[in-house]
Formats: sequence, C-alpha cells, structure tokens
Amino acid sequence: MSDKKTKLRSAAWFGDVGKSGIMHRSWMKNQGIPDHEFNGKPVIGICNTWSDLTPCNHHFRKLADHVKRGIYEAGGFPVEFPVFSSSESNLRPTAMMTRNLASMDVEENIRGNPIDGVVLLVGCDKTTPALLMGAASCDIPAIVVTGGPMLNGKHQGQTLGSGTAIWQLSEQVKAGQISMHEFAAAEAGMSRSAGTCNTMGTASTMACMAESLGTSLPHNAAIPAVDARRYALAHLSGNRIVEMVHEELCLSKILTREAFENAIVTNAAIGGSTNAVIHLKAIAGRIGVALELDDWRSAKGTPTIVNLQPSGQFLMEEFYYAGGLPAVLKRLGEANQLPHKSTLTANGKTLWENVKDAPCFSDEVILPPEKPLVKDGSICILRGNLAPGGAVLKPSAATPSLMKHRGRAIVFENIEHYRERIVDPELDVDENSVLVLKNCGPKGYPGMAEVGNMGLPPKLLAKGVTDMVRISDARMSGTAYGTVVLHTAPEAAARGPIAVVRDGDWIELDCEKGRLHLDISEAELTQRLANWQDTSNIATDRGGYLKLYVDNVTQADQGCDFEFLQGCRGAGVPRESH
Ligand code: FES
Repeated sequence: MSDKKTKLRSAAWFGDVGKSGIMHRSWMKNQGIPDHEFNGKPVIGICNTWSDLTPCNHHFRKLADHVKRGIYEAGGFPVEFPVFSSSESNLRPTAMMTRNLASMDVEENIRGNPIDGVVLLVGCDKTTPALLMGAASCDIPAIVVTGGPMLNGKHQGQTLGSGTAIWQLSEQVKAGQISMHEFAAAEAGMSRSAGTCNTMGTASTMACMAESLGTSLPHNAAIPAVDARRYALAHLSGNRIVEMVHEELCLSKILTREAFENAIVTNAAIGGSTNAVIHLKAIAGRIGVALELDDWRSAKGTPTIVNLQPSGQFLMEEFYYAGGLPAVLKRLGEANQLPHKSTLTANGKTLWENVKDAPCFSDEVILPPEKPLVKDGSICILRGNLAPGGAVLKPSAATPSLMKHRGRAIVFENIEHYRERIVDPELDVDENSVLVLKNCGPKGYPGMAEVGNMGLPPKLLAKGVTDMVRISDARMSGTAYGTVVLHTAPEAAARGPIAVVRDGDWIELDCEKGRLHLDISEAELTQRLANWQDTSNIATDRGGYLKLYVDNVTQADQGCDFEFLQGCRGAGVPRESH
C-alpha cells in the first residue's frame, strides 16, 4: 500500500542505513515491531488526550485502537503518544490556562518525533483548539477525531443537558424552588455515559468548528461517544490520514481564510459558544491567517437553525439523529448563507461536495432557515469606551429586550467580592442594574474563568427575575445563557477601562449598533485610569508556568495565545540528539 515516492519526514529517523537509523529502529523494536514497519511506511502519530482526570476523554484509548486499525489497513505505521489533557471539569484555576501549554506539548511532540501525519483525538473543550493550534504550527497532514458527546442526561423523567442543567437547577435552589437535596439527586443522571457535554457547549461547538473548517470527516462533530459509528469514523479517519500523507494534504491547504469564514457562519447557525471567538483566532494565528474580531460581523444575519440547549431545546444525541452538521451546512448553502462552498476538507472533497446531499430528519431539531430559532444568531461584537479592544455577546442565549439597555452599575472587584456581595439582602440592586465583574480576564484570574454568567442576586431571583445585563472580562461556559457581555478587552488587570467602573455609573449596551458605553466624560475616564491601582492580586511570585502564562498571554481579542507561539514554524526535521 505504501507509495515509495512519497517523501516522508520519518525517513530521517528510520530510513538511515547507518548508526543513526539502527539506533532509532532498535529502541522502537523493544515494542515488538517487525522490520517491515520501518520500510517506508508513513508513520502516523495518534495524539491522545486520554486521562482519568479528563472524564470527557476517558474512552480515548479504545478510540485510538480503532484509529490504529484504520492506519494499519491503509499501509501506515501508527504510533500513539500522550499530550497534556486540559480537563474542563477538574483543572484549576481554569482549563483555559493550560490550553497553550497543551499546544506547545503537541507542537514539540510532532516536530521532534518521526511523524509524517497526525490524528488529533480531541473532546473536552480546550483539547480541540490546543491540538489544532499545535498541529497548525507544524503544518503537517492532520485529521481531527472527536470523542463525541454523552447520551442525553436523564433524571426522574426529565432530560438534562450538561452544564445547562447545573445553571438552571442552582438558580432554582437560590430562588427557593427546589432543595439542595433535589439538586444533588440529579448529579449522576446528568453524565451517564462516556463523552463530552451533550449541549451545544464549547466542546460540541469546537467539534462543529473543526468539521466546518474541514479538518475532520463529515459527521465527526455529533456522533455520540458510545455509538458504534463513532468507532467506525475513527477507523475511517485512520485510513484517510495515510492517504493525506501521500497527497501531502497539509493543514495549511485546509485552514484557509475562507474556511474560517465558513466556521464563523456555522457558529451562528448552531448557536455556538462564545469561546469559539477566542479559539478560532488562536488557531488562525498559528497557521498564519489574519482573523480579526470584526470578521465575526460577517456572519450578521445568519439565522440560528440548530435547536439545541442552551439556546434551544434539544441535545447532541437528537442533533446527530436529525442529520448533524452536514444537514445544517446543506441548509445554509441552499439559503445562500454559506460563504465558501469550495473549501477543501480532510477527505479531499470540498465542503459542499460533502454536504450537498445530506438529509435532514427533523425540522424541529434542525430548523428551516425561514423559521429559525433566532433570526440573527451571529456573535455580537461590541466596542466603545468600555471595551476599546472589543467584547462579545451571544444573542441566541440572551433576552431580546435587554439587548438594548441602560442601567446603573453594581461593581464587583473580583470573583470573591462578587460571591460575598451578591447574597447581601441590603445590596442596592434591581432588575435594571448592570452587574460588572472585574479581574477575571486572561491575566487577572488567570486563564479567564467561565464566570461571566454570574448568578443573579437571590432577592431578585425570588421575585421571578430571570435575566439581567452582566458585563465582565471573563468568559462564559458554552452551556450557559443570559444577556452577558464577555471578553471585555483590555481586561481590568491590563488596565482596561472596565477596571475603573464604579457603583452607580451608567452603562449603555446597544447590540444592534455594537456599542458598549460607560457614560462618563473622556476627561473623567482618563483621570480614573491615571489613578488606577492594580487590585488583581495575581500571585506570580512563585514563578513556574503561571508566571510564563501571565507574562505572555495576549488579550481575548487576540485569542489569548502566547505572542511567542503565534505563527507556523513548520515541520522541518530537527538535528540529531546523538
Ligand atoms: Fe468536558 Fe464539558 S466538561 S466537554
């Protein structure tokens, strides 16, 4: 099966007839690998984010076995290797803080090893962007295999969506509608199978981004983790990566500017997570595509047609049964909403060739574009004196009547201040107030925690208030909802204007005009910024990765990558170690 004409970078390790080749082959042979495996076969890395501490990815060793079968079958030589696994549910202070660390691990593993192509096993939120970022910086043939979403959560006859149910039930506890005991009873039913969050949270969003970018086979995003077809797709991806190596189909041929524009529109159509704004920017930066925050405005007018929580009703299981992402892309294309039909994908076909005949089996789950869930589901990009570097809001998760709002600020200096103050029955707050949370940005938290959807004051919840305008330099879980302004840049810890907002200041939000305004004079703002004192209290004095992160992370509008990691460094073979 192997094509001897293909120039393989692994030949620099295994193809040498002298001492160097003997050394590399000899140590590998301690795994029981016979001679013929080194005879010019493409060496395919399986980059695995398996970890018991990343529960969403804990089934990945089985997934890797199926990828291996496909690689062997196509004439390749599979080599599985572990990389740092960012666990959204366990890692503190945030999994986001380790996304760049994981990407460095991936990049150096690929470049430093005899690898001709790579299969990226991703699932939990940060693992998808981290592995794509690392592989993009090397620009070798790469294909994404996602672990797939969990089955629907079930508890006492109710269907529960990952994350979204946590936010909903905890608000009900605060409002006195259910007991803590009832909340806790739902715990096991929420996550009852292998897989990632089953809502259109960040993991599902990034899986859809990877598919719409063309980096995976069709249907990769939605097949449930425990569905046998997930393992068949892994096998086929193993087949395909070997061909990709022979075709020299590197990531830069797939990750074009047009592909990112397709992904931006797809995000609006699926009601995707705001985290995609940061991750797509970071991936684009690695492959050398200049993607700006304002490019997200290009999706304006794109309807949200995927009726999934947190914006809508259903979960990923139903999404797959309804036709998955190919059905969505087909509907977008037929409605002239898909900007580029001819972008190349991992299977060698164009995006449109892959989806043009895709059936849709449920108009309730994947809505016709003329009857959308939200007429304009594009991420709203906001600018103004409160966010000179920009901020974002997810319209499909917001209350339409609050998307144009003027209210008095109630300010929290950090997350601890918020937790202490929000429960104060004397807090001078009403439903028209604007909650402002500082020091939760990339440097300030650090890692930009998903706390932007801060819970409402219990006394307002008890009154039946369900949403308020909230503004922060934080992120929000893709499973969360509300009229929430996020990613305000520059952040407070970088002396952004959000740092000097005070209780009682008037703030204006106008999503239609893309405006976020602090209603004080320019002179007053300048004066406050001149007198600003850093209250973020970032403990970098112990050094380590935390210091590397805080010293180098860029702001949200720049993708939160490290400046020194941006760009493609290629996969040139490094010099020998002996
Ligand atoms: Fe891992 Fe949601 S916590 S995908």
